[in-house]
Amino acid sequence: MKKGDTIELRITGYAFEGKGVAKINKSLIKPNPDLTEAERRKENYVVFVEGAYPGDVVVAQLRKIKGSFAEAKAIEIVKKSVFRTEPRCKHFGVCGGCKQQDLRYEKQLYFKQQQVKEVFKHIGNLTEYKFEDIIPSERLYFYRNKMEFSFAVKRWLTPEEIGTDEVIDRSFALGFHIPRIYDKVLDIEECYLQSDVTSDIVNFTRDFFKSKNTPVYSTETHTGFLRHLVIRVSHHSKDLMVNLVTSKEDDVLMNEYKEKLLEKIPEVTTVINNINQKKASIAVGDYEKVLHGPGYISDKIGKYKFRISANSFFQTNTLQAEKLYGTALGFANLSGDEVVYDLYSGAGTISIFVSEYAKKIYAFENVISALEDAEQNAKMNNINNVEFIGADLYKTFIPVVEEKQLPKPDVVIIDPPRSGMHKNTVKDVVALNPGRIVYVSCNPTTQARDVAMFVSKGYKLIKMRPVDMFPHTYHIENVALLEKI
Ligand SMILES: C[S@@+](CC[C@H](N)C(=O)[O-])C[C@H]1O[C@@H](n2cnc3c(N)ncnc32)[C@H](O)[C@@H]1O
Repeated sequence: MKKGDTIELRITGYAFEGKGVAKINKSLIKPNPDLTEAERRKENYVVFVEGAYPGDVVVAQLRKIKGSFAEAKAIEIVKKSVFRTEPRCKHFGVCGGCKQQDLRYEKQLYFKQQQVKEVFKHIGNLTEYKFEDIIPSERLYFYRNKMEFSFAVKRWLTPEEIGTDEVIDRSFALGFHIPRIYDKVLDIEECYLQSDVTSDIVNFTRDFFKSKNTPVYSTETHTGFLRHLVIRVSHHSKDLMVNLVTSKEDDVLMNEYKEKLLEKIPEVTTVINNINQKKASIAVGDYEKVLHGPGYISDKIGKYKFRISANSFFQTNTLQAEKLYGTALGFANLSGDEVVYDLYSGAGTISIFVSEYAKKIYAFENVISALEDAEQNAKMNNINNVEFIGADLYKTFIPVVEEKQLPKPDVVIIDPPRSGMHKNTVKDVVALNPGRIVYVSCNPTTQARDVAMFVSKGYKLIKMRPVDMFPHTYHIENVALLEKI
């Protein structure tokens, strides 16, 4: 068979990134003429199928055929798995946002746990530890506090739109990128991830700029004005931030947008314009202008209040963040006498959350605005036992520790980006010789790799507990505890 051909498959497993797994005989797809019939019959082959769950029988189109596996996409469901449910959103299936809205929530949780165990077994060769049940998300919808939408000069049309006689403007879109198609965006009219007002803001923003014929920034020609729309909402207060990312300044247009937006959606408490002059398509500006309100929102995790500015990292599911940090705090098992290092500390949220239970905390982070927010957050919460330190944890940070003559840590809490830790940083932590390491991660694959490194250097993986921060997606947050042997 070749790429593009279709094949009927029975799905029996669940794999990385939420794909279904079908186990077949290799000769069905890639027969080897050099083998005898008997040898061929023994050849097992795996097909990873996007859009399919265990229990499904699907017709799948082959996308990639390799020596030991193939990748395919389900194009027709012949028999539905009992794990399936009706998706809520009209954009489901086209939008890449919540790919698992059609999988029952208890099964989402089950598969996430299985994934963590499998990844630790296959990548880290780790099987001996206590596994605590995943903590489900309190909310299944409207759980995100931050949403990032993109403008595009190429609008993705749905099959229904293509089928109508209506003349449709394809040259302007505001919504989400279509998976794997980097330049096309689906106009999002409804979304159940943040709040109803979010959809109102998105629809208003699209209508406003379309009516003004404002050009969208093109990643091909690097011309145009509109780049991203970022919306942040507070869970515990009524704060609501609208941040428009543009390629340059236009005070007249932006002021008119702000005025009309506030007229239409008075719940908005702050409006910001980030200006990104770089070619890279990121929703973070080189600088920002505050057009209305304080330029930040405030929210709470546990009893602590946090200031969140447009570009600083904040856990996207506020209610679950409390459970995540609570799990990390429980694993750290602090008595009040410990020196704690918080690596990749962002806006200081973990440091502040655990501060009551430690003697002193040193927090390390390399984003200046996050460090500034962290200082502000500690002050706001009257926390005096945390010191925030600028350090690039891609390089060794021991020189910073030595220069500042910091005491060695009893406990190290680590919460790196998806790419995980640099091996220099793993080495540094080992050299600092903490009794306990609590590793929080949004990517169990890199976490398993790093944990295996700690295990090879004299640490034991004691226990793990995932926390579901991202319902309807295959993304997993996991907390691991290591102890010095
Ligand atoms: C997953 S976030 C965790 C932030 C924080 N612990 C929290 O819970 O909100 C990862 C953090 O690592 C920081 N980071 C990424 N690369 C870094 C580096 N090379 N050195 C220091 N910090 C880095 C990011 O700026 C971000 O704040």
